[in-house]
Amino acid sequence: MKTTLFATCAALALGLAACGGGEPAKPAEPTAPAAEVAPAPAPEVTPASTAGETPADVPGFMKTRHDNYEALGKNMKVLMDNMKAATPDMAAVTTAAAEVKKTADVMGTWFPAGTGPETGIKTGAKANIWTDRATFDAAVVKLQTEATALAAVTDAAGFKAQFPKTGGACKNCHDTFREEEKDH
Ligand code: HEC
Repeated sequence: MKTTLFATCAALALGLAACGGGEPAKPAEPTAPAAEVAPAPAPEVTPASTAGETPADVPGFMKTRHDNYEALGKNMKVLMDNMKAATPDMAAVTTAAAEVKKTADVMGTWFPAGTGPETGIKTGAKANIWTDRATFDAAVVKLQTEATALAAVTDAAGFKAQFPKTGGACKNCHDTFREEEKDH
């Protein structure tokens, strides 16, 4: 249980200063949502974590979250370009798909309490993420499932079959939980 939590924090630390809001990682408290983590053997798809504690640096956390989504968008663009190519560059596809999966696996931890539009900070995250958490978590798991399948493709045909499903999992969440960007 702790191992899984640390793995999540380690992966998260690559891009997002969560897991204790910049403080050294604390061991999980007995009431922590780690109970949601599935038991061994390690599943292909990890469940989305529950909301978690408000980070110490809320504006910084929210900026990092947005930056991480922009990075996710860039990886999807690489995949989209290869989708259009007659002969996809499978090395580039494999790298980008692995990044998408890595992001999907930690996305459920990006929305702790106190990091929504009620902060007054500009964000694309809608308030219903926090009021309809079960649906949101299901949307995260859907992306994890499709991103895991995408990361497992071994040839161009498999990639071209799986990419649209992965993109559909992005849209599935955006349609309900993301504010349209008005600025650009
Ligand atoms: C479970 C919900 C969910 C899933 C799945 C999801 N997103 Fe998002 N996405 C959001 C939310 C919420 C925001 C707004 C976040 C913010 O402003 O901090 C966002 C913002 C973004 C942004 C930032 C720019 C903008 O339009 O706001 C990009 C780019 C993006 N997502 C791409 C993707 C891609 C690509 C995928 C699929 C690989 C994906 N997202 C999957 C919820 C999701």
